[in-house]
Amino acid sequence: MLEYNSWSTRLKALRCKLFGKTDFERWTDASEFEDWEERTKIIARLVPPGARVIEFGAGMGKLQRHLDPSCQYTPSDLVSRGPGTIVLDLNQRPLPDLTAHAFDLAIFAGVLEYVHDLHSFIEWLRQQSPACIASYGCAAHPRHSLARLPETLRRAGAGWTNTFTETELICLFADAGYGLAHAVDWHTAEGDERIFHFRDND
Ligand SMILES: C[S@@+](CC[C@H](N)C(=O)[O-])C[C@H]1O[C@@H](n2cnc3c(N)ncnc32)[C@H](O)[C@@H]1O
Repeated sequence: MLEYNSWSTRLKALRCKLFGKTDFERWTDASEFEDWEERTKIIARLVPPGARVIEFGAGMGKLQRHLDPSCQYTPSDLVSRGPGTIVLDLNQRPLPDLTAHAFDLAIFAGVLEYVHDLHSFIEWLRQQSPACIASYGCAAHPRHSLARLPETLRRAGAGWTNTFTETELICLFADAGYGLAHAVDWHTAEGDERIFHFRDND
């Protein structure tokens, strides 16, 4: 089990980022999965009937059972989570071309925080899907503020390898051609986590 906020966890996250590696050890072990079902249900309610959906970092693929039966669901993750999984490390470069699947919507629940280079990732994503629903634990302190460094270290204590405020995240998506359609909050005892719905600007 991950030791949250320990120095070994922080150093592992920083090492992964520095060397472009992914923490396979953590995610291959299904006992690392916590109860994120409430977030899953919130996301499912945002998905229109009939959508062709790919879920990146799908985990145990619980989203599928909350979607309208008319949706087509494809799970993707670091390791196979069952039949039909597209096995893909979001930190690998180059990323593959998935356009033949003609996905309408890409979903990320608790995943973007582990992508080292979010900028190039979102550029790639925009070619793969015209819309995206993503949760993200936003940073509080903007780039160039003194508090950013300790905040980045705290995030690394959860294994997170990037740090963006909400405004910075929305700008990243905007640079790739996605506009924010709307956002909802997932309320937890530890605080709120925002879920963003982006759509292409075309
Ligand atoms: C916090 S879990 C969330 C699982 C699922 N989305 C949910 O909400 O129940 C993070 C998921 O992201 C996947 N993941 C982490 N790093 C990844 C990477 N570099 N590429 C692809 N998937 C990754 C893990 O394998 C895991 O399934």
